[in-house]
Amino acid sequence: MTVSGLETDHADMNTLERAEAAERSMIEELDRLIVMKSVIYTSGERDPRLPIQRPPSNGKRYMMGHDPRLPRMPDKPTLFDFFTYRFGPANHLLQSARLAQKNGVDEKIVLACLVHDLANIGFIRGDHGYWGAQLVEPYVDEEVSWAIRYHQALRFYADESVGYKYPESYIKLFGEDYKPEPYIERDYRYARDHKWYMSARLICVNDLYAFDPNVHVELEEFTDVVGRHFKQPQEGLGFDQSPAAHMWRTIMWPTKYL
Ligand SMILES: [Fe+2]
Ligand SMILES: [Fe+2]
Repeated sequence: MTVSGLETDHADMNTLERAEAAERSMIEELDRLIVMKSVIYTSGERDPRLPIQRPPSNGKRYMMGHDPRLPRMPDKPTLFDFFTYRFGPANHLLQSARLAQKNGVDEKIVLACLVHDLANIGFIRGDHGYWGAQLVEPYVDEEVSWAIRYHQALRFYADESVGYKYPESYIKLFGEDYKPEPYIERDYRYARDHKWYMSARLICVNDLYAFDPNVHVELEEFTDVVGRHFKQPQEGLGFDQSPAAHMWRTIMWPTKYL
């Protein structure tokens, strides 16, 4: 029996029945093999030149959808659903967006701050600004995704005119002698002369002081900002036909075999 079959009856079940159904579906789904992490996630732990090792399937089928170890997402997930079920507490983003709001930046930039690090908190770390921009590109103003893309490079270069210094934390994290790669340097130079430079720079400015474990910000504070500046697809994020839909599906179903 499929899980979706179980779930369609959920409205008529009481709590206990629902819990039992969920457990049953979990057991049935775990019957499926969830062994195939994408090569990119294991590269380095294993030598990517060697053949991929697969444990014998012993007749079991492979996971081709929802991973029962993860919270199930709604059928038509919204940006907030991804925050709730896939992006952890996301304090850094929430605090950054609140700081931007307090600093009186354009509301579009508040949204940019709210989503600027989606890639490293829920998708792929390396080159997170580029990935993050691509994730939201179809749903936001061009300036917003542009700013997210270029905050990646601008993070590494000071701009004293707005009080942005090279982050102390980067010295600790990457060492005194770390020098960004030529492509980062190139993109920094390009961004510096662009009409939207300050939008990307404002992400960095509001990013820098955004880590405070004692400040608690609710996602709901940004309901209106998101409503006005993030075009939620009717079919749900991941099920629309945008060029980024598959990326959202991968966040939803990260262990799907194909
Ligand atoms: Fe970032
Ligand atoms: Fe950040």
